[in-house]
Amino acid sequence: MMERCAIVTGAARGIGLATAKQFLGMGWQVALVDRDREELDRAMAPLGDRAKALPYDISDPDQVAQIIADTLDAFGRIDALVNNAGVAEFGPIEDCDFAMWRRVMATNLDGTFLCSQAATPALRQTKGAIVNIGSISGLRASTLRVAYGTSKAAVIQLTKQQAAELGEYGIRANCVCPGPVRTKLAMAVHSQEIIDAYHDAIPLNRYGSEEEIANVIVFLCSDKASYVTGQVIAADGGFDSTGVGLPALRV
Ligand SMILES: NC(=O)c1ccc[n+]([C@@H]2O[C@H](COP(=O)([O-])OP(=O)(O)OC[C@H]3O[C@@H](n4cnc5c(N)ncnc54)[C@H](O)[C@@H]3O)[C@@H](O)[C@H]2O)c1
Repeated sequence: MMERCAIVTGAARGIGLATAKQFLGMGWQVALVDRDREELDRAMAPLGDRAKALPYDISDPDQVAQIIADTLDAFGRIDALVNNAGVAEFGPIEDCDFAMWRRVMATNLDGTFLCSQAATPALRQTKGAIVNIGSISGLRASTLRVAYGTSKAAVIQLTKQQAAELGEYGIRANCVCPGPVRTKLAMAVHSQEIIDAYHDAIPLNRYGSEEEIANVIVFLCSDKASYVTGQVIAADGGFDSTGVGLPALRV
């Protein structure tokens, strides 16, 4: 059998890079997509010849078509698509102008839709898997995230739409909702105060690591999850399902 192949978007750093490395460790071939060409080049250096760099922007339909064409050229098949590329911009509803709204939607929602649609013919051939990256911000509303939280809630619903329609072809679609992880994306918007507050609201009382999120993503892409589709799994230290945040109720 030819080696399996995954596309991971936003793979130059953070959760995407950790996911790409896990696939490579499992013997898969990986197309690493990122619009930050410099960061992608740096990430590629140690990865070897089962990894291919695709310096494209997932919010642009022409570039998305190129992602699929280049991946099939290089590896001949697509077994998994991880829609991980995302942007976070936080601010009050009154300050979220349409340009900011569109920047967030263009990557987080449009990009996830476009990549999935473009990969579907190849995924049909392999009975492959889609994993979309949502967020705890898509599960529970919070301040300053009108665009980000709404985009991630839409990604959760998009996952269910995909599971409903693509199941007929044997394609599975699931969503992983990470809690806070100390990546460049999070550190740009998390002050020390926010970090402390998160600790208070998370039963496991800490941030997650990139690898802890990647573990769940690769599981959902693997045969071990062959009967799992349409699911939304929070890898969040318990944040989503609990309410430990009232300091007065803590021991
Ligand atoms: N870090 C967290 O705390 C956290 C929490 C919940 C959800 N998430 C989600 O996890 C995913 C990965 O986040 P991360 O923290 O690793 O972020 P990150 O910023 O470290 O990495 C994201 C990568 O995506 C790339 N990217 C962004 N827009 C792109 C586009 N249009 N086309 C191609 N590449 C693009 C960036 O260049 C970057 O390399 C995102 O979807 C994010 O919303 C992260």
